[in-house]
Amino acid sequence: MMPAPSPVDAYWLDRATALVDWIKVPTQGGAFSFHTPVSIRWFQDGILNVTTTCVDRHAAATPDRVAFFYEGEDETQRQTITYGQLQDHVCRFANSLKALGVAKGDRVVIYMPMIPQAVYAMLACARIGAVHSVVFGGFSAHALHTRIMDCGAKVVITADGGTRGGKVIALKSAVDEAIPETPVQHVVVVRHLGQDIPWTAGRDHDYGDLQKAAAPICDPEPMQAEDPLFILYTSGSTGTPKGVVHTCGGYLVYAAHTMQTVFDPKASDVFWCTADVGWITGHSYIVYGPLSMGTTQVLFEGVPTWPDASRWWQMVDRYGVTIFYTAPTAIRTLMRLGLDPLNTTHRSTLRLLGSVGEPIDPEAWHWYHTHIGGGRCPIMDTWWQTETGGILMAPLDHTHQKPGFAAKALPHIQPVLLDTHGQPTADEGNLCFATSWPGQARTLHGDHARFEKTYFGDFPGFYVSGDGAKRDESGDYRITGRVDDVINVSGHRLSTAEIEAALDDAHGVIESAVVGVPDPLKGQGIYAFVVLASDVMASDALTKDLMDHVRTYISAIAKPDHIQFCDGLPKTRSGKIMRRILRKIAAGESDFGDISTLANPEVVAVLRRTTGV
Ligand code: WTA
Repeated sequence: MMPAPSPVDAYWLDRATALVDWIKVPTQGGAFSFHTPVSIRWFQDGILNVTTTCVDRHAAATPDRVAFFYEGEDETQRQTITYGQLQDHVCRFANSLKALGVAKGDRVVIYMPMIPQAVYAMLACARIGAVHSVVFGGFSAHALHTRIMDCGAKVVITADGGTRGGKVIALKSAVDEAIPETPVQHVVVVRHLGQDIPWTAGRDHDYGDLQKAAAPICDPEPMQAEDPLFILYTSGSTGTPKGVVHTCGGYLVYAAHTMQTVFDPKASDVFWCTADVGWITGHSYIVYGPLSMGTTQVLFEGVPTWPDASRWWQMVDRYGVTIFYTAPTAIRTLMRLGLDPLNTTHRSTLRLLGSVGEPIDPEAWHWYHTHIGGGRCPIMDTWWQTETGGILMAPLDHTHQKPGFAAKALPHIQPVLLDTHGQPTADEGNLCFATSWPGQARTLHGDHARFEKTYFGDFPGFYVSGDGAKRDESGDYRITGRVDDVINVSGHRLSTAEIEAALDDAHGVIESAVVGVPDPLKGQGIYAFVVLASDVMASDALTKDLMDHVRTYISAIAKPDHIQFCDGLPKTRSGKIMRRILRKIAAGESDFGDISTLANPEVVAVLRRTTGV
């Protein structure tokens, strides 16, 4: 006889069987250690293919139910995709990938605009057991190259281009630039814009041709619960992005569980998450969470302000959206544009709102609540991370709404606040977690040591989120922001070290230091201190060149808002840059505390004079 599972395991096993279709139903819950060697496993004896849950069962039971109402940035491009059609697209694409030699365990990079084929591509990989790694379409060719190399992708799936705010993003040419000297053998290209693009015969394949030639039936590959489902790169506190690995069983159970617990979609709901599939929010709350529940969704290629600031609200009315999930930066942007863009729409179908990616300030919260939700829709301020796989905290009690608070952890999630010595504190500290949950990341691709050090190194026995938080007398949590060298610009996580690496790579730069500064619109802005070689003159032209260099090295989202040239950076005697002081200088503060431990305290005065503090 097997011993009975613990109450916590029983809870998760129950969720696993209720929400997911298994080939072999698991009998084992969690098996994890947050001490070195760190190991995290869930539902180990389960076997499944995630696409059975996300596609097949709905295609069988409700083939005509709409999976996606898709709208391109050009609003005449509209498509309705049912679950029956979704299955056909996914299976044909899966067969096409097989024909290109993609097999279980192979890595496939997806670099796409927000079009339905991006979703088909992810699910086609999952269907055959290939591991997808979606790279946000806003990343540069250089950033794409780094990610392809790190995961060793054999195939890249892309489009000729995408559009954003009326501008064309040339994705295929970035791919052409990124893949020399990588293991990539094939490139699948969706002709989305119908543009003329360079073509490498034998290597490049037209998606439309592949789909026509492919058979519409593809048996789902049986996967162990702990087989990897995807790798998603995110920024850390060094210059190299981290390939966060999520596995099939635990991730899917957690995406489905949080979708149900936080948003509770019914057959009559229309859900719209405005994230891009290039980020974890798109993975969990456009693809795996909602599709696992057979939800009807809106999928949109564009931005909220194009062609004008009423676009989102027109779409909410057009499709009868009932649950709307977005990021505070978008809310703040729209808030600044005033109420006129709201007058032509009613938004009366909305019943629930969500926020994710950065702290939502009370002003934006109230605007969202009053003007978008008509004062009747609760706001789910959801706190989570790429590494957590799904939402860990949200105000599930709708009668208890506190602007700016992600409120409470979901059931069986155990947050703790630790001080710098790792001791529990009552009201403010490092936000850590004492036990595992099924959606937790398992490792960093190819670097388990970095995984252990980053998330479990500071306080062994706890998962360290890298965020700070406060807890009030009712036990509600308010996230105060990152406590490490990661900055959050418009809800995008960026590593200061990665931006520094880009600046240091530019001609004439000796050294740089990047810090976040408060920004009323973007949450945080990017402020760079740059030390130039003695024979290089500072100039506006050089500032622009350096900004462009960061854009081509990483992405437009990583471009500094401000560059300050300087002769030296404040350092400790061991040579470590004192970012605490630079953050204060950049923010225009004048109280630096004790600077006597610096090796070069005189630079602080010079830096202040140059910034005008
Ligand atoms: C921040 C996005 C405050 C936080 C899902 C976290 C938030 C980082 C919230 C993860 C929130 C996310 N309130 N801050 N509701 N949600 N964050 O990996 O700093 O792109 O560590 O995942 O975003 O960003 P990531």
